[in-house]
Amino acid sequence: MSGAQRGNEPGTGESDESSAPRQASTPVARRTGSAGRSALRILILEDEPTDADLEQRLLARSGLEFTAVVVDTRASFVQQLAAFRPEVILSDFSLPGFSGEAALKIAQEQCPDTPFIVLSGALGDEAAVELIRQGATDYVLKDRPARLASVVRRAVAEAGQRAERAQLEVQLQRSRRLEGIGRLAAGVAHDFNNMVGAMLNYAAFIRGQAAERAAQGIDKEAWDGVRQDAEQIEGAGQRVIQLVRQLLAAGGQQLVRPELIDLGQVVTGIEALLRSTIGRHIEFQLTLAPQLWPVTADPGQIEQVLLNLAINARDAMPAGGTFSIEMQNVTVDQAERTPHPGLIPGAYVCLRVHDNGMGMEPEILEHVGEPFFTTKPFVEGGGLGLASVYGIIGQAGGTIGISSESGIGTAITAWLPAKPDAGPVRA
Ligand SMILES: Nc1ncnc2c1ncn2[C@@H]1O[C@H](COP(=O)(O)OP(=O)(O)O)[C@@H](O)[C@H]1O
Ligand SMILES: [Mg+2]
Repeated sequence: MSGAQRGNEPGTGESDESSAPRQASTPVARRTGSAGRSALRILILEDEPTDADLEQRLLARSGLEFTAVVVDTRASFVQQLAAFRPEVILSDFSLPGFSGEAALKIAQEQCPDTPFIVLSGALGDEAAVELIRQGATDYVLKDRPARLASVVRRAVAEAGQRAERAQLEVQLQRSRRLEGIGRLAAGVAHDFNNMVGAMLNYAAFIRGQAAERAAQGIDKEAWDGVRQDAEQIEGAGQRVIQLVRQLLAAGGQQLVRPELIDLGQVVTGIEALLRSTIGRHIEFQLTLAPQLWPVTADPGQIEQVLLNLAINARDAMPAGGTFSIEMQNVTVDQAERTPHPGLIPGAYVCLRVHDNGMGMEPEILEHVGEPFFTTKPFVEGGGLGLASVYGIIGQAGGTIGISSESGIGTAITAWLPAKPDAGPVRA
């Protein structure tokens, strides 16, 4: 699921080419072919209807699927930038009361990533070049309109690549940040482990001695009290050890015993536990593709991941809902768009969990996975669930994607490198 909704279709809907002369400043929308949701949204700023028409004919003839809105005033241009959210802008050079130059400035403020292509008439090259200098993406001379379609295609493709790179950069920064915090947490965890280990040993020593004295009958009550106090210390120490385990997992530094496993067997092995964890008020759906490829991971850790994800889904759906787990084989190849930025080509088993719970606001989503980041009331070990999920999947060489929309739900996807040729894994 992605929070991004595809754009509103322009309110004017489809318009017949031969319809009555439109009122100036009323945006006119036209769709080509069987253009569906993937049709390119083009905003055309043009006061000369025959020019606007010619541009659309040329684009349509080139096989481009698009939805166009034509505007010819500053007000309607500004309004349609927001309402129509064009993916490319075609702008005339001069219009009555407005200009390509002024439109470029507005577009640069409102949607700096949207390609802006200038169509210039009589003024010719020089003026167009000046607009390029000011940041326009490209220009087409009106007396040589044949280039239009290829210019549009190239501008859109390049904008797409830039957007993908930007997304990848954000992703990388995020995983670096998480890695850094995780390492820090794991470093602290190692120290805790040693200190708590010493405390547990001494507490056990006191407990043993107290039990011995009590058994001898000297001051029995007092020694029983000492023994109970020592047991309290040991109990608290054990909880610290648990916490430390999760911290180490968050830092991707838990001791692991990786083996070749079938993720489907791991999940069915704890299916009953997962069901009882989420409770009766939540529907549980498990979809396993047949013959999942083996992956190399520690099965105990994968169980930890699934449990943490199930607990979060339960907490996100206090009034019930559906929690689903899906697993399937996925091949990411060079030519295709990768399903996640930064995912290198190869074979993966894709594990996806989904809930239709409360979801997250973008400010929350930005921080999930950081150790101790939580929006829940204080509990021991709060805010370590997703941190350990990230740590564990990272340690197994996998990649995680998370998408969430407030009020709609959350989907978390992990891609674990698979070994398709390794043969079936024994149960
Ligand atoms: N499935 C989910 N739906 C909505 N919010 C979630 C979900 N999973 C995690 N979160 C948010 O991320 C935060 C961190 O989750 P986590 O690391 O598991 O720690 P905790 O569950 O202890 O808070 C949660 O407090 C919650 O705000
Ligand atoms: Mg949690």
